[in-house]
Amino acid sequence: MIALGSDHGGYELKQELIKHLKERGIEFKDYGCYDDKSCDYPVYAKKVANAIISGECDRGILICGTGIGISITANKFKGIRAALCHDTYSAQATREHNDANILAMGARVVGVGLALKIVDTFLDTKFSNDERHIRRINLIENS
Ligand code: RB5
Repeated sequence: MIALGSDHGGYELKQELIKHLKERGIEFKDYGCYDDKSCDYPVYAKKVANAIISGECDRGILICGTGIGISITANKFKGIRAALCHDTYSAQATREHNDANILAMGARVVGVGLALKIVDTFLDTKFSNDERHIRRINLIENS
């Protein structure tokens, strides 16, 4: 189950993402926002982070205007590893190396086509399970 969240800056891209996930038959929960009225990105970052921490969802996707505020907020929560990615190389690497559990993107930074490719890469790439990456993730989690 994938948790989705955005502020107003990411709302339209989230709607495109919802269509895309439906086409791919991937289950998701949309934690808002639910329209393009101005709102506060930390609210939605927190909802998605908690959905992952509680085990309700496996991974999350967060979108704001830049992806910065929403990823900064998500990374305040213990156990969350949110990666801000605007290219597919980073999306693949952050799954393989960091076992990132949230993908963050900026809707004012990437176009829809690239954003959906980044999402597919993030969702389709497994953690490497390499000892050195496990060690580094443990260092993050215990810091
Ligand atoms: C909202 O205007 C904008 O500040 C927000 O979407 C995001 O880019 C913050 O980091």
